[in-house]
Amino acid sequence: MHFDAIGRVPGDPILGLMEAYAADSNPRKFDLGVGVYKDALGLTPILQSVKLAEQRLVERQTTKTYIGGHGDAAFGKVINDLVLGADNALIGQQRAGATQTPGGTGALRLSADFIAHCLPGRGIWLSNPTWPIHETLYAAAGIKVSHYPYVGSDNRLDVEAMLATLELIPKGDVVLLHACCHNPTGFDLSQDDWHRVLDVVRRRELLPLIDFAYQGFGDGLEQDAWAVRLFARELPELLITSSCSKNFGLYRERTGALIVCAGSADKLLDIRSQLAFLARNLWSTPPDHGAAVVATILGDPELKSLWADEVEAMRLRIAQLRSGLVEALGPHGLGERFAHIGVQRGMFSYTGLNAEQVKRLREEHSVYMVSSGRANVAGIDATRLDLLAAAIADVCVS
Ligand code: LMR
Repeated sequence: MHFDAIGRVPGDPILGLMEAYAADSNPRKFDLGVGVYKDALGLTPILQSVKLAEQRLVERQTTKTYIGGHGDAAFGKVINDLVLGADNALIGQQRAGATQTPGGTGALRLSADFIAHCLPGRGIWLSNPTWPIHETLYAAAGIKVSHYPYVGSDNRLDVEAMLATLELIPKGDVVLLHACCHNPTGFDLSQDDWHRVLDVVRRRELLPLIDFAYQGFGDGLEQDAWAVRLFARELPELLITSSCSKNFGLYRERTGALIVCAGSADKLLDIRSQLAFLARNLWSTPPDHGAAVVATILGDPELKSLWADEVEAMRLRIAQLRSGLVEALGPHGLGERFAHIGVQRGMFSYTGLNAEQVKRLREEHSVYMVSSGRANVAGIDATRLDLLAAAIADVCVS
């Protein structure tokens, strides 16, 4: 039979946790797995700004015909402005263009096809560790995947080791950097570190690809774009993948963009023609709804300000959960050991817990997190921090 030789692959290590958590009948369970924001009630609500934009769309939308290969032009404009800053010279010079994609993953996949087809032979360098899908996605496009060190075995950011490896990357290769809220570790580069990375990238003539999936969840909407804008200002060419999954809460609407900054307006047109061709072979034209919501929100000053307040509220809640957890671990004598949770940024924390401890947390305490020790801090229930701390202490000391 045709299918006889086909075996089974293991389920996705992150999405699989959603199912395992749902199937757990323990009322005291904790969902610290997939990167989804939860509010004080443990819900992932639709943002108010999104609801209002959707109502407008229902009333005003007149057609469901295809949108073009690059998606909705209004979305492309607002997302360029959000990421690069509306006053960015590149936008005026028509050297930056956004292609709408199905989520940040779609943007990454389009970047992979772009590299494979238009820059053949270039390898890509990922941080060790990185989001597991970075690994498989570029390999699936036939690109050679290599790694630069990022976090050492002591669970600390190791910038010196990172820079030393960047120095050795062959000229022309692509280096993937996380703009902020590094997934999975939560450890971000300082501004000084970014300047040093920029220096190597420029000298070694590397092509940077900045994954920007968490704008607004680190230090603020503008602050989180600092490194992206530095690179866009200092280098002629840059790829950026942007996601609206987290900061607009549009997880299932699959809304994102691949932004290309090119050396000239004419070169950008060349590249965009290639991206439209590649996208046509991937998904033809992107899904509309989420992007239409984002364009509606960012195109309306009142909705935009409501949205920015909602993002800030999510960001502050995550920051409070971080310090709250470190505090709750204090009475167990673990405050110092887990102090890094308060320093990290964004949804994720590389806790430093090993796979055996993660397994015990899940089996004995119904605490779900990725086996690498990554916890989604945004999934913590603030009213049960003590219970979570006690569970962590139990697997650390016994
Ligand atoms: C995560 O890392 O948990 C999120 O980015 C969701 C995903 O697709 O893996």
